[in-house]
Amino acid sequence: MKPFFTRRDFLKTTAAAGAGSALLPFVSRGKSIPISSPRYTKGLVVASANGLRAAQKAMKIIQSGSDALDGVIAGVNILEDDPNDMTIGLGGLPNADGVVELDASVMHGPTHRAGAVGALQNIKNPSIVARYVMERTDHVLLVGEGALKFAKMHGFKEENLLTEKARKMWVKWKESLSDQDDYLPPHSIEEKDVGGDWRGVMHTYGTINCLGIDLHGGISGVTTTSGMAYKVPGRVGDSPIIGAGLFVDNEVGAAGSTGRGEANLLNCSSAMVVEYMRQGKSPTEACVMACQRIVDHNKERRLQDNRGRPNFDVKFYALNKNGAYGSASIWSAGAKFVVHDGIKNELHDASSLYKSEE
Ligand code: GLY
Repeated sequence: MKPFFTRRDFLKTTAAAGAGSALLPFVSRGKSIPISSPRYTKGLVVASANGLRAAQKAMKIIQSGSDALDGVIAGVNILEDDPNDMTIGLGGLPNADGVVELDASVMHGPTHRAGAVGALQNIKNPSIVARYVMERTDHVLLVGEGALKFAKMHGFKEENLLTEKARKMWVKWKESLSDQDDYLPPHSIEEKDVGGDWRGVMHTYGTINCLGIDLHGGISGVTTTSGMAYKVPGRVGDSPIIGAGLFVDNEVGAAGSTGRGEANLLNCSSAMVVEYMRQGKSPTEACVMACQRIVDHNKERRLQDNRGRPNFDVKFYALNKNGAYGSASIWSAGAKFVVHDGIKNELHDASSLYKSEE
């Protein structure tokens, strides 16, 4: 199968980062990539396609001299607070019981610390709670009731996150059960017609990932989501799992993801993207390789189309410490990402493995 991806895509998405300056061979105790250009002096923000407002806000904070983590969290808070975004924070689509459960992670490159929350109810900014986990506990991940108790201990106010619009959509889904829920009967990996329609309108995986480099060369990232709509209660996706939905290494770069979280959980994909960059791959190349790994490991027939390709999508976003950036997805539909290079904030085309039939 020929990938829907060309070398020209690499050049396009890495151009702004001084693609002309050749990278030195990989050295440095196997830990870091060499610096091929001066560290970014205007800051850099890369985000998923829904992240234009987030990137604008993050860049403003970064350009004021603040840490990239302050910027990217403030950026995604805009979407967490927005009741009209039905995939993140307030107004996110609920689980199968009609309860909104949020997942988020943050990672701070300069200190190599991270925090995360999974299946958090009633608190609209899981990304801020994730930062509290990082800074005010000895742990990395809190989930469910414990995460809520911890948030309340730090003064977060509980509120009903289920908007009327989301409640009505949930009722509609509930009334059209049951081949569209996420429970599966016993089945073999050869069976095709098992469970729900993963590419259909009933399942959404909206999420925001936002990565940034600050004026001091510090790299940080955040991923926040209400997860898969109508999921099994208690389901935690890739977003709060460090290495799956987000990974940062200040000596290399950062990567994050949106799309079917289960695929990232099975492949530790964001850490993989960073490791490919450590080996000298460009951010775009690294993202494409992570997509390919998911395709190679996707063995269940129910998760394949009639040509054996995934019947779901996963998208990756990455930047390296030299200020190069890139993005790739399995399918071409909606393959875009946001880049704020310190001057312009705009959507860019991402690479993809397969052309969607639109
Ligand atoms: N990637 C978001 C999720 O699967 O929950």
